[in-house]
Amino acid sequence: VGSEKINTDIVTLTRFLNEEQTKHKEATGDFTLLCHALQFSFKSIAYYIRRASLINLSGLAGSSNVTGDDQKKLDVIGNDIFIAAMRSSGRVRVLVSEEEEEAIVFDAKDARYAVLCDPIDGSSNLDAGVSVGTIFGIFKLPEGAKGTKEDLLKPGTELVSAGFTMYGASAQLVLTMKDGPVNGFTMDNALGEFILTHPDMQMPKHRGIYSVNEGNSKYWDEPVKEWVESLKQAEKPYSARYIGSMVADAYRTLLYGGIFAYPADKKSPKGKLRILYECAPMAMVFENAGGQAVNSKMARMMEVIPEQIHDRSGIFMGSYDEVQKVIDIHKKHG
Ligand code: AHG
Ligand code: MN
Ligand code: MN
Ligand code: MN
Repeated sequence: VGSEKINTDIVTLTRFLNEEQTKHKEATGDFTLLCHALQFSFKSIAYYIRRASLINLSGLAGSSNVTGDDQKKLDVIGNDIFIAAMRSSGRVRVLVSEEEEEAIVFDAKDARYAVLCDPIDGSSNLDAGVSVGTIFGIFKLPEGAKGTKEDLLKPGTELVSAGFTMYGASAQLVLTMKDGPVNGFTMDNALGEFILTHPDMQMPKHRGIYSVNEGNSKYWDEPVKEWVESLKQAEKPYSARYIGSMVADAYRTLLYGGIFAYPADKKSPKGKLRILYECAPMAMVFENAGGQAVNSKMARMMEVIPEQIHDRSGIFMGSYDEVQKVIDIHKKHG
């Protein structure tokens, strides 16, 4: 062993969740059990993604979902794995998934949680071996809730927890609690454990990286065009980085700083990304990491209330000062 001391005081996700639970005297342990079911679904989805091209799991399923996306085989498998894990936890009352037209109400009559999920985000990239991920959000429900639409059509400020797992070079879990820090965990395949590797992630306040699909620029409104042009004409022009998987673009933005945007535009007047299981969970992560997230009207993303469970929104999220630039340009346009 070299001069550095081997860290033997390893914080696994399991230990982290136990320590979190002891902070809440009134905790019943239900949230911890729910997170263990979430953890299993990430491990299981990661397993299938890494073997997809070996077991003929790449390519299209031949179906499409309610938001019009063609479903990949892994969209469907990831969805089935996630639903089974949430159902068997016995702690989830109702589940919204990108791949399910209606919310799924489980039999767990006394369960107090609603889970929102995008089982495979970035699935159009899957067959190219590009990083994809799973995005989730968790609402706590009132006693005796039935898992109705009213329980689900809530703003991000009501989320008790949110995060995502990116299946990249290694599986990276990013997890945050309401008004809490953002913690990053890396899957150690040898141990089969998520290990705390990025405690209390704080974004740089600014960074010259912008992430947006410029193929849509002919459809953008004036303030968005002016904003992107201002980055290109900056004293030190910004770098363009766009992977096309929100989870991968988000993880880079969280670590390096910069800004990710999917503006509402003439082609997608309500935006493309879905509020409940893409925009709101990501907005919570970015705010808790010191950044900000707004919609195309420059309203705080966390306060946007969807009218339908698959409602979409424009989104700008990233380093605090980088999002502020977008807000200031929109203000100028009045
Ligand atoms: P999903 O794969 O869950 O349907 O999400 C895809 C989303 C998001 O991951 C990404 O940021 C965006 O689609 C990319 O859209 P474009 O290909 O239009 O840029
Ligand atoms: Mn999709
Ligand atoms: Mn997605
Ligand atoms: Mn998806």
